[in-house]
Amino acid sequence: MANNHTPETSTHEMILHDRIVKRKATVGVVGLGYVGLPLIHAMHNAGFTTVGFDIDAEKIRLLKAGKPYLEHLGREMFRDLARSKRFTPTNKVKGLAKCDAIAICVPTPLGKHDEPDLSYVVNSTEMVARVLHPGMLVSLESTTYPGTTREICKPILERGGLVAGRDFFLCFSPEREDPGRKGVETRTIPRLVGGLDPASGRLGHALYSAAVERVMAVSSAEVAESAKLLENIYRAVNIALVNELKPVLADMGIDIWEVIAAAATKPFGFQPFYPGPGLGGHCIPIDPYYLTYKAREYGHVTRFIELAGLVNRRMPEYVVERLSAALNQESKSVKGSRILVVGIAYKPDVDDVRETPAAEVIRLLSERGAQVSYHDPHVPVFPSMRKYRFGLHSVRLTAAELKASDAVLIITDHAAVDYAAIGRHAPLVVDTRNAMSRVRSPSARVVKA
Ligand SMILES: NC(=O)c1ccc[n+]([C@@H]2O[C@H](COP(=O)([O-])OP(=O)(O)OC[C@H]3O[C@@H](n4cnc5c(N)ncnc54)[C@H](O)[C@@H]3O)[C@@H](O)[C@H]2O)c1
Repeated sequence: MANNHTPETSTHEMILHDRIVKRKATVGVVGLGYVGLPLIHAMHNAGFTTVGFDIDAEKIRLLKAGKPYLEHLGREMFRDLARSKRFTPTNKVKGLAKCDAIAICVPTPLGKHDEPDLSYVVNSTEMVARVLHPGMLVSLESTTYPGTTREICKPILERGGLVAGRDFFLCFSPEREDPGRKGVETRTIPRLVGGLDPASGRLGHALYSAAVERVMAVSSAEVAESAKLLENIYRAVNIALVNELKPVLADMGIDIWEVIAAAATKPFGFQPFYPGPGLGGHCIPIDPYYLTYKAREYGHVTRFIELAGLVNRRMPEYVVERLSAALNQESKSVKGSRILVVGIAYKPDVDDVRETPAAEVIRLLSERGAQVSYHDPHVPVFPSMRKYRFGLHSVRLTAAELKASDAVLIITDHAAVDYAAIGRHAPLVVDTRNAMSRVRSPSARVVKA
């Protein structure tokens, strides 16, 4: 893991550093999704000429036309980029050839057996290898296990004969994007950068410092890779903790949300996490298992990670049990009941349904014979997923729709939903997010789940 090369400044390093500082460098981003698109926008705003590469031809078409495909980023970003002479979207690898620096922001999902699926990282690195030239900086941003940059990316990039740290530069800089969160953006979220060698670290630091307000250099790519995993494992474990406490306190007749609010008044040593219907999104349910996989190579078992996974993955079943018990109290069965699910995105105010627990909840309800429909102001059609295919469209949240349901099941508490109307018209509300606490004296029976 030691840095291979001497800390002296080479000619390649000096030239690239100068190009970065003077904004003469061309910056490429590979993978223009939730992470890559805000990044290229930030690089563009920093004054660089930019090339956005994605294998998805539809995204490139939309970018050229200035048409948005990620709602939460706003129309302006797409319009700005489409109008700019310093931004070229492309699905041709050779479009990246003129880049001085390239950031890779492709998916890192799990395979069938919860093993890391690095196929996107491998494929995109192979593409970058085709245009790699002396003096280029490559930065991996995809969340992954420690060692990926050095063990997977470096050998692929070196196949053509150029040597990392001498002829080209390679670093890891984890993305901390939180789509939908107000008040933060790529520019203001502090950055970590770790190089494979000192020169790569210095150049990575220079590149990100041009576009991001605070950049912290760490001693290696492995530290940066591990820091990102620690951040996400910390969330997964703490969410599991409150998810485990939720049924315990519920059976004692204690409201967990009130307990968390009370504990959160402590000004130190406690950070509130909130229970829910399970974990969703491309990061928290997935990334921790990357470390679990790598830990096995060193003979370690990551018990906390696996336990958190077990607890969080059971939450959809718990929600369905609570719903079933609530219906039972009204002499109704799940079978034949009309259940209106509110909010299917994995978190509030975004249109992202990746790994959403709503999918498992709907599957379980359908399997038990419920008639399920959903309302989500951000997701008009439930897209087909690897494990789920429902063919459902969002229904309007009308008084008639609410009255016709046997239960409304709140999975995600989008701000744009009229909870007062739900409280007024629905007979029964099963609430996994404490969303109904904002409605004064609802007529509906409200059960927290
Ligand atoms: N979404 C988040 O909030 C978030 C936050 C922090 C970190 N991350 C990490 O960032 C990485 C990217 O996640 P994302 O959410 O942006 O994914 P995404 O699916 O939104 O975007 C990835 C893009 O990469 C493209 N792509 C796939 N293979 C490619 C290839 N060979 N060449 C070029 N483009 C290719 C896809 O078409 C897609 O547009 C993941 O490792 C993820 O864990 C995501």
